[in-house]
Amino acid sequence: MPRHVAIIMDGNGRWAKKRYLPRAMGHRRGVEAVREIVRAAGDMGLEALTLYAFSSENWKRPADEVGDLMGLLKHFIIADIDEFAANGVRLKVIGRYRELAPDIVALIDDAIARTSGNSRTTLAVALNYGAQDELLRATASLAGQIADGTLAADSLTPDHVSAQLDTADMPPLDLLIRTSGEQRLSNFLLWQCAYAELWFTDTLWPDFTRQHLASALADYAARERRFGGR
Ligand code: FPP
Repeated sequence: MPRHVAIIMDGNGRWAKKRYLPRAMGHRRGVEAVREIVRAAGDMGLEALTLYAFSSENWKRPADEVGDLMGLLKHFIIADIDEFAANGVRLKVIGRYRELAPDIVALIDDAIARTSGNSRTTLAVALNYGAQDELLRATASLAGQIADGTLAADSLTPDHVSAQLDTADMPPLDLLIRTSGEQRLSNFLLWQCAYAELWFTDTLWPDFTRQHLASALADYAARERRFGGR
């Protein structure tokens, strides 16, 4: 059983296109899938679930689509926070979320504070997240420690880097899932993926259900993880 699963939720646009619907409908159905998978993660006993909701590159999308995604995010936090709070879900955000609109930042901070005492499942939502940016921030912080003499450059270990990442307080990443048939990491959790198992499916994100998650976990259970050993 993996402790920490991450998902690149891809294919909302194609889901909508196949049905001659606007892309916004695909994202809306994508949020329904998020809801089901967060519930399933808790039911299945996952300690942590990290979802790639908005990358630092997603700002390149047309302004109306960015607006749709931000609106859905806002609605999601408002509508779902009570359920999280009641079900032992601790909300966490990774990425530069403080650069989002002030009302969204306030909602996020409130939701984080309200669920900070929960310990059943950590739901980390990646917002304005890019793994290279996360690694640059970690590097700058370590460089500062080296410069002020609190850390010796020749004593650096992977744990020093891990401790500076946005995921520092989460279990190691065991399994990365990407939907919609694409097979790339798209600047998501690059450091954390070092020994993660990768699982790809052609299913588009709005069609992804708890049965798909269960299949991924079953495949994971059958894999032999060696972490470079033999
Ligand atoms: C990829 O579909 C999906 C995203 C841009 C991010 C996922 C966003 C959501 C599920 C909705 C908001 C999330 C939360 C947590 C409220 P795409 O548009 O890249 O699809 P395409 O590749 O088929 O065009």
